[in-house]
Amino acid sequence: MKIIIAKNYDEMSEIAAREIADFINNKPDAVLGLATGGTPAGMYKELIKLYKEGKVDFSKITSVNLDEYVGLSGEHEQSYRYFMDDNLFNHVNIDKSKTFVPNGLAEDIDASCREYDQRISELGGVDLQLLGIGGNGHIGFNEPAEYLYQGTHQTELAESTIEANARFFDSIDEVPKKAITMGIGGIMKSKKILLLASGENKAEAVAQLVSGKISTKAPASMLQMHGDVVVVIDEAAAKFIKRA
Ligand code: F6R
Repeated sequence: MKIIIAKNYDEMSEIAAREIADFINNKPDAVLGLATGGTPAGMYKELIKLYKEGKVDFSKITSVNLDEYVGLSGEHEQSYRYFMDDNLFNHVNIDKSKTFVPNGLAEDIDASCREYDQRISELGGVDLQLLGIGGNGHIGFNEPAEYLYQGTHQTELAESTIEANARFFDSIDEVPKKAITMGIGGIMKSKKILLLASGENKAEAVAQLVSGKISTKAPASMLQMHGDVVVVIDEAAAKFIKRA
């Protein structure tokens, strides 16, 4: 696991955008696994800037997103489809028909999860998976639990996740209680992983991520078993690393 400590959020965003742009330049038809949330928003802004400067080309890229809220349509401003369109896809030359996000309105969610995994395997798997991390150590919406799932599945959000994500909604009652998420197996199958974290509220989770101990109660700790992980964090998120 390679750990890069940036001074602050902006520097984290710039370093991460450069990592992704370099990756795309080496593999223009890459399958990117993408994440949403407050953490990667600055990185997407940087990527758009690099695109506008002619330094990266998305025309041959395919993307698959990690997760989506159950019950929200892609037009809902807090859906992850909307986030991706708004924060990246609408501003670069990606072919939108090759951008995939789990369907939060699927009638048969289990079947749509199986189709999602099938699609990823038909695409040849994810080349580079971008991840954030929950304050509770979740990746995607694989929440701390007695056991974790291999494939894409429907899950109940942890109370702390609902509370953390309430900042994006008018009230906490509007935060969906369930989501569809790629499983830990799906995440681990990606060829390379880039995890971002910023802020002191992620410091405990980051320390667990690099601790040398692996537990389903700290889902991100599973990444210690992956051979190619780059972690880009700011100083605040790195606060407890030495203690780990
Ligand atoms: C988002 C996702 C989540 C977030 C995590 C951190 O697609 O999968 O795991 O990465 O909840 O969210 P932020 O970045 O908003 O702190």
